[in-house]
Amino acid sequence: MSGSRLAAAAAVLAGLLAGGPVSAAVDAGALQRGEQIYSRCAACHGIEGNRTGPQHCGLFGRRAGTAPGFAMYSKAMRESAIVWDARTLDRFIEDPMNAVPGTAMGYAGVKDPKERADLIAWLQQATRAGRSCKPQP
Ligand code: HEC
Repeated sequence: MSGSRLAAAAAVLAGLLAGGPVSAAVDAGALQRGEQIYSRCAACHGIEGNRTGPQHCGLFGRRAGTAPGFAMYSKAMRESAIVWDARTLDRFIEDPMNAVPGTAMGYAGVKDPKERADLIAWLQQATRAGRSCKPQP
């Protein structure tokens, strides 16, 4: 066995120990699909910089309605007391106007749970402030 094949075998073994090589492959695909799904959000949002909607850099762990420099939040969003994590995001993206009645986000939502999971997986990578992105003032 050559060195590189040995390394590949070791990687497969590590993958198996970490939950299987299949899950690793799915993860890469999920991130790619997630990025594509984000193009629906990009009509109004960017990761860095506010547009019609608030910037998403630093989203996870942040309180709803507090993206730096975004002045157009609805009262409903500011007073929602939501802290963004995979679970709260999933619920909001599924049906924004139902999850936060009175939200200014005029978007019907992403109804497919698999699409939401892929989108959230990608957002978790892409919005890491100071690592993947820099919040704009
Ligand atoms: C038509 C424009 C539009 C689209 C499309 C849109 N959004 Fe929004 N989004 C907004 C606006 C405007 C707000 C502010 C809502 C408020 O204050 O009630 C917002 C708020 C948010 C928030 C809350 C952020 C915070 O800082 O508290 C999240 C999370 C979010 N959007 C995610 C998404 C995702 C994910 C998508 C794509 C699946 C998406 N949005 C699509 C306009 C949009």
